[in-house]
Amino acid sequence: MTSASYGTIAGMDGARAGSSGDEDRSAAARERIEALDEGGYREAVPALARLLVDAVESGAAVSFLAGLDEARAAAWWAGRAPAVADGSIVPYVARRQEGIVGVTLLILATTENAPHRAEIAKVIVASAARRSGIATRLLAAAEAGAVARGRTLLLLDTVTGGPAERLYARLGWRTTGSVPGYALDVWGRPEAATFMWKRLDPP
Ligand SMILES: CC(C)(COP(=O)(O)OP(=O)(O)OC[C@H]1O[C@@H](n2cnc3c(N)ncnc32)[C@H](O)[C@@H]1OP(=O)(O)O)[C@@H](O)C(=O)NCCC(=O)NCCS
Repeated sequence: MTSASYGTIAGMDGARAGSSGDEDRSAAARERIEALDEGGYREAVPALARLLVDAVESGAAVSFLAGLDEARAAAWWAGRAPAVADGSIVPYVARRQEGIVGVTLLILATTENAPHRAEIAKVIVASAARRSGIATRLLAAAEAGAVARGRTLLLLDTVTGGPAERLYARLGWRTTGSVPGYALDVWGRPEAATFMWKRLDPP
């Protein structure tokens, strides 16, 4: 069960990202971007676990070290289900005929002094489906979901100099700064993270 579909936004965002032309539109048509409710999220956990393992195997910094298996990855996603149920995490997935090929989490700040703030985390696209605009469309859906919930300031962190930093910069995210040795890469070596923010227009 999904709580919302962003098929139209997905199509619009290809244009907004500036990656022009028919290729973008056909790529957008291949997948649907959906916000999941708790039931849909729990059903998606095995697919999300495969995505997370695939990301770690591709060397991506997504909080885990090399050697992550699907059971542990599934446990991590399942651990977020209560937050999905209470609405403090809104998961977005990109779904193709063959299954889920991308995910991101919109994490709403819960303190009373930050009703306008949210974080973006776990932006992951299946390695076989990258560079076709899926992350761009997932982020557009998450932004729309943030604005709909009154969240007009988004934050995230990402590996300094990594492909995702370029993606976010291209989508209008601003850089606060880079912290050397912030986290370990999948092989256990310290690497820097760039902290970024984006202000969204209220509806
Ligand atoms: C980073 C990631 C989410 C990008 O997903 P994607 O669907 O391939 O991204 P898009 O197709 O929307 O890319 C949009 C733009 O981002 C930039 N970008 C994306 N991947 C890139 C790469 N490998 N190298 C350089 N730039 C890249 C480019 O500017 C790209 O536009 P272009 O293809 O027209 O040049 C994907 O590579 C991924 O899942 N990586 C592993 C997990 C990860 O590191 N997530 C980030 C956590 S902060």
